[in-house]
Amino acid sequence: MTEAILLVGGQGTRLRPLTSHIPKPLLPVAGVPFLTHQLARAAEAGVTRIVFATSYLADLFEEEFGDGSRLGLHLEYVSEETALGTGGAIRNAAARLRSAPDEPVLVFNGDIISGVDIAALRDGHRASGADVTLHLKRVADPRAFGLVPTDADGRVEAFLEKPQTPEEITTDQINAGCYVFTRSVIDRIPPGRAVSVERETFPQLLASGAHVRGVVDDGYWLDLGTPAAFVQGSADLVRGRIASPALPGPVGDALVLPGARVHPRALLSGGTVVAAGAVVAEGAVVEGSVVMTGAHIAARASVHASVVGRHASIGEGSVLNAVVVGDGAEVTEGNELPPGLRIACGARLPAHGIRTSASPVTCTAQGIAHSGVPHASPAAH
Ligand code: GTP
Repeated sequence: MTEAILLVGGQGTRLRPLTSHIPKPLLPVAGVPFLTHQLARAAEAGVTRIVFATSYLADLFEEEFGDGSRLGLHLEYVSEETALGTGGAIRNAAARLRSAPDEPVLVFNGDIISGVDIAALRDGHRASGADVTLHLKRVADPRAFGLVPTDADGRVEAFLEKPQTPEEITTDQINAGCYVFTRSVIDRIPPGRAVSVERETFPQLLASGAHVRGVVDDGYWLDLGTPAAFVQGSADLVRGRIASPALPGPVGDALVLPGARVHPRALLSGGTVVAAGAVVAEGAVVEGSVVMTGAHIAARASVHASVVGRHASIGEGSVLNAVVVGDGAEVTEGNELPPGLRIACGARLPAHGIRTSASPVTCTAQGIAHSGVPHASPAAH
């Protein structure tokens, strides 16, 4: 299995405002665009060619990864004018595959960090003669996921999307967003229209008697779709809880990237990342957080499990816990922000309150532009 299709066309709505101008798979996680970790793992498993199925902010992927030679990969990009859904995207990208009809092709979601053994998935797929093999993960609370019960031989029995009632929760095995398809199965997905692989393709395969296999792997797995998962995934990579060949530094309690300035009396812990050009001043405490390029954390500020966007600033003594601060936003001194708050790009929080005035700053894919155009104000979630 030397070819893969990577699904990266989603809008990443649950991570807004971070994804307003950067697609989720390109957000920096443990110091590099998130996808770099998964691309490096696919390369380790023997994948040499990957077709990116893009849609939202499509051009930014090629700008970031180019032809892939930096990663020892050959990358191709296919863009959907209107999003085709997961199955439609796989079918659309298949036009660029070179694999023969009976060869296995890896397909994976671009928003997962996972330690699954890709080579073992491929080998099991081949040996079993399956049409599709799915990586399954056991989770404590499966309500937000698609459930995939299997029989004693690992054959998938059903696909149950997002169960609502206790009776519907018949298994703790969920679809982990990584598949091996026999190429000819991809070619049978209807072309040119939106298709959900989870809701349409997989159930239809089962109904037609196809051999759909599930492999439970209980290694590290995280869907980086929410702010809490995003900071956790970054911190886990920095602390080595999940190994990545793409980590740009030694495993440790914090990762300070070249060009960042951290005062000797600031305290970084919990897998915090401080990106290039960012500043953490004296007495500041930053724990389990992502501080992006050019951000500024002033003296004695306290930042926990939060994301501080590019060129955002946190004022002296302010306290943030589980907060997302959009690019270019300003939290002035002495603010104590409630968990779950999201601050829009370029917004300004005046001292001691979350009443806001729009700021003449707007975010672009490249960074912060001083445009004079008022931007959105903060939204609490
Ligand atoms: P949310 O909007 O926060 O739910 O995130 P998302 O847009 O990433 O959606 P979701 O987590 O359901 O998507 C799973 C994977 O499929 C992600 O890697 C998406 O990028 C990708 N994806 C979802 N829909 C499409 C699509 O229409 N086209 C392509 N090419 N990829 C898609």
